[in-house]
Amino acid sequence: MHTIWLDIPLLVGRMKNILVIGATGQIGSELTMELRKRYGNSNVVAGYITGAEPKGELKESGPSAIVDVTDAEIIENVVKEYKIDTIYNLAALLSVVAESKPKLAWKIGIDGLWNVLEVARVYGCAVFTPSSIGSFGIDTPHINTPQDTIQRPRTMYGISKVTTELLSDYYYNKYGVDTRAVRFPGIISNVTPPGGGTTDYAVDIYYSAVKGEPFVCPIGKGTFMDMMYMPDALNAAINLMEADPTKLVHRNAFNITAMSFDPEMIYQSICKHIPDFQMTYKVDPLKQSIANSWPDSMDDSCARKEWGWSPIYDLDSMTNDMLNKLSIKLKK
Ligand code: SER
Repeated sequence: MHTIWLDIPLLVGRMKNILVIGATGQIGSELTMELRKRYGNSNVVAGYITGAEPKGELKESGPSAIVDVTDAEIIENVVKEYKIDTIYNLAALLSVVAESKPKLAWKIGIDGLWNVLEVARVYGCAVFTPSSIGSFGIDTPHINTPQDTIQRPRTMYGISKVTTELLSDYYYNKYGVDTRAVRFPGIISNVTPPGGGTTDYAVDIYYSAVKGEPFVCPIGKGTFMDMMYMPDALNAAINLMEADPTKLVHRNAFNITAMSFDPEMIYQSICKHIPDFQMTYKVDPLKQSIANSWPDSMDDSCARKEWGWSPIYDLDSMTNDMLNKLSIKLKK
């Protein structure tokens, strides 16, 4: 017997019953709530692993289930039970953690993806498994990085993301599984913090600013990376899965970006609100070498053309919203 959740399904689209794997992570926690808002609370299952149980609104507002991506049977049981037609597979280790646990990163990212794709093939589910700016490498053109270009990353995170793209396309071409994805840039949010990524500094800096503490930046001046505010990332993940498939020339995965900045630019943007905010540098060699291998700015024209990608937030509007939301959150 399923609990009856308070339901206001607002949208009739391609997705009806959705499973989010990794629903308590940085993107998953907000994506699950956004999907529930749009598709009805009872139609979105929050998949989590032991030790990362959903809490608060995420737990109360809809169904949740243990879904360990490395266990194919568990995925299959949940897909069957909830008649899932779309899977958002967000289980992954971020770039810095993946360097210290490469085998686990592969197990979650690739063996896990294989499980998801196999279940999707048998039960006819569409699958979204994000790729990243990390799928590029030092040999990739760094300015205006094209959609189709050299992808020879040297990090385990990047290697698993390129493999994700290839395996997802393989399942589409060979079995017709409706796989689609974006290459996310650094995602900035004020709800669940990221853990162990190279772009985390662009979240941490806001927490320091709001707490009135100086910020020690682990990424050097002049290091540009693509970034995006969470509301745009959620729209990207949902709009791509709702897009007309006949318009998609690419599938796995689309470059998308909203802004490109270096630490000085985000610092200056914060100083417009908090003029006495202070930042110093203590460059982390691993993070810096990873950042150096990633694009400075991606060309996302294919996403714009093929499914209407268009971000809302730029650096200053994001800063404004981050500082407002975090001031409220940290006061509680
Ligand atoms: N935010 C990720 C990381 O820094 C990149 O996709 O690892």
